[in-house]
Amino acid sequence: MSVDFNTAPIFIDPDTGFELRPLPESDDTAAAQVLADATGEGTAEAAQIRIDQTRVGANNRVIGGWLHDNLIAAYTLERDGMANQIGIIAVLPEFRRQGFGRLMLTDALRRSGRRPLTAETDDDSIGFYKTCGFKMVGRRKHPSGVFRYRLGWHAPRNGSDAGDSC
Ligand SMILES: CC(C)(COP(=O)(O)OP(=O)(O)OC[C@H]1O[C@@H](n2cnc3c(N)ncnc32)[C@H](O)[C@@H]1OP(=O)(O)O)[C@@H](O)C(=O)NCCC(=O)NCCS
Repeated sequence: MSVDFNTAPIFIDPDTGFELRPLPESDDTAAAQVLADATGEGTAEAAQIRIDQTRVGANNRVIGGWLHDNLIAAYTLERDGMANQIGIIAVLPEFRRQGFGRLMLTDALRRSGRRPLTAETDDDSIGFYKTCGFKMVGRRKHPSGVFRYRLGWHAPRNGSDAGDSC
């Protein structure tokens, strides 16, 4: 069964209690702090601009990852034609490499239902996406000389096994 973009608002990982849910705009400043490292500039200000761009689209969401009532991770999920795209994603440094990034990708896949899920990234994070099952679908060179990669991930036919895909 296809899952609509909005019909799975909260996901709680039973092992850790990590909770993922769409953030209200009142949490955007906190989300920008978390997402700073996901921007080329590495600043909360740059993340705030990306969040503001995300908020323009009615179907877009800023998803927050909470651990024991602390916001430790976040990502943006944006409608892009027939697909959904992960815009920026980050976990606070002290919580990295503990599986929370993987849980966010799984959450994005779940929220995307049958829509293909894409992400755009650079050399630093391509390993993360590939480890979690994304496949390279394109590459382009920015005027700065830096390569950006487009990756894609499709929902399994049975949405119930989405959690096994990453
Ligand atoms: C990229 C990021 C979100 C990954 O989150 P995380 O919670 O550390 O990732 P996980 O612990 O869930 O890792 C999932 C898998 O990806 C791998 N992985 C994580 N980061 C990786 C990296 N930078 N390069 C290669 N593999 C990576 C992990 O080893 C793990 O694989 P394993 O289960 O086989 O060991 C996090 O490192 C981060 O916030 N980075 C700064 C912001 C950023 O660069 N965002 C991406 C661009 S928008």
